[in-house]
Amino acid sequence: MTGSFRIARLQPSDAEAFRTIRLAALQTAPAAFGSTYEIEAARPVSAFADGLSASVVFGAFDDRRIVGMAGFRQEAGPKVSHKAVVWGFYVEPAWQGRGAGSALLAALIEAAQDVVEQLTLTVVEGKDAAIALYTKFGFTAYGTEPRALKTSSGYVNEVLMALRLPQRS
Ligand SMILES: CC(C)(COP(=O)(O)OP(=O)(O)OC[C@H]1O[C@@H](n2cnc3c(N)ncnc32)[C@H](O)[C@@H]1OP(=O)(O)O)[C@@H](O)C(=O)NCCC(=O)NCCS
Repeated sequence: MTGSFRIARLQPSDAEAFRTIRLAALQTAPAAFGSTYEIEAARPVSAFADGLSASVVFGAFDDRRIVGMAGFRQEAGPKVSHKAVVWGFYVEPAWQGRGAGSALLAALIEAAQDVVEQLTLTVVEGKDAAIALYTKFGFTAYGTEPRALKTSSGYVNEVLMALRLPQRS
């Protein structure tokens, strides 16, 4: 089933709505992310606006609000700036399985091709929906970091994935 949504890049002026979806992601799927709700909820809206300047972030919008997001941040430094890290990939539970994640990832990959040569990401071991989706878009796993995250319920391994992007001539 597909839903009725549109994908658009978020601008710093979307900071309030970005904060809402980001905090919803951290609250609803805490095991999927390295950050925490408590840390980000304490940040002012201006920090979220800064985040939208430092990253390229796409939102999936229904009529009124953002129901999903995905971003990439180019690495800094002459030897690593050909790469970007994918982060914050999330679709609200009610919208999952309706194509929003695929649409977000397609938009992200398309935009990243103008900026970098390679995308990398980490995904918590066992997050099968996310791993299946990344694989569908060509990401391959190149390793697993044991005990990558330490949470209140124990250590968590992360799968490392990469996608080499076709170069625009
Ligand atoms: C990962 C996530 C963003 C996918 O968003 P989505 O809108 O449900 O994605 P789509 O509807 O476009 O589904 C696309 C693909 O995901 C995979 N998928 C979706 N649900 C799945 C499930 N329950 N099990 C296995 N694969 C699944 C399939 O490969 C599917 O492709 P197909 O429809 O061609 O079979 C969403 O599940 C989510 O927000 N999860 C919680 C947060 C999270 O894990 N984020 C990743 C952090 S690295």
